[in-house]
Amino acid sequence: MTRLFITFEGIEGCGKTTQARRLAKHLKRYGISVVFTVEPGGTRIGKGIRRILLNSRNKDLAPLAELMMYVADRAQHVEEVIKPALDEGKWVICDRFSDSTVVYQGWARGQDMWLVKTLNKRSAQGIEPDLTFVLDCPVEVGLGRALKRDVESTIKGQSRFENEKIAFHRQVRKGYLKLARENPGRFIVINASGGRDSIQHEILEHVIRVSKLGIPG
Ligand code: TMP
Repeated sequence: MTRLFITFEGIEGCGKTTQARRLAKHLKRYGISVVFTVEPGGTRIGKGIRRILLNSRNKDLAPLAELMMYVADRAQHVEEVIKPALDEGKWVICDRFSDSTVVYQGWARGQDMWLVKTLNKRSAQGIEPDLTFVLDCPVEVGLGRALKRDVESTIKGQSRFENEKIAFHRQVRKGYLKLARENPGRFIVINASGGRDSIQHEILEHVIRVSKLGIPG
């Protein structure tokens, strides 16, 4: 059995958080030591950074400052949570990681890709996911779900990213699909328009195959 560092990626409202949590819960049930974590905001310091990044009042946040804040969040997260867990032989399941920065700040915001990749590598201490699931669905479906979630929860209004124009989210979606095409060994694109249970099952089957885990799917 191989210990894995698994990341979940996708546009707003694609359902990745639900699926990442479900996978972690399932693996724990079989006695696997799993750390479930998120970006941005996987540490105490990161939670403060997340509040600034997602606050819809911060419309004037400069793109370079935004990039630096995501990378700062990651540097803290890798140092404090991800690296220690992997060093201890634990599995790590992370809701978003470096690929989000490539797609959102690099492709969608147009920040210099060399800079994005250099900062990513440094902040992640060279750590790369073993497996990355991209939950893919049309932008209209994802944003519809994200909006519904905000209305139903206590979150007032939309986050800074949900307020972006639909073209921005289309760029993000395209960016993920391009990354996945270019790295077929690490990425698995999942059709996220279907039911939660069947998506969960599909994800688990891939995890079992890649890790050679001997547990039921
Ligand atoms: P979440 O909605 O998955 O919690 O992610 C928060 C937002 O942060 C989401 O709109 C994507 C964005 N994001 C980036 O733009 N760059 C990054 O590097 C990360 C991790 C997230």
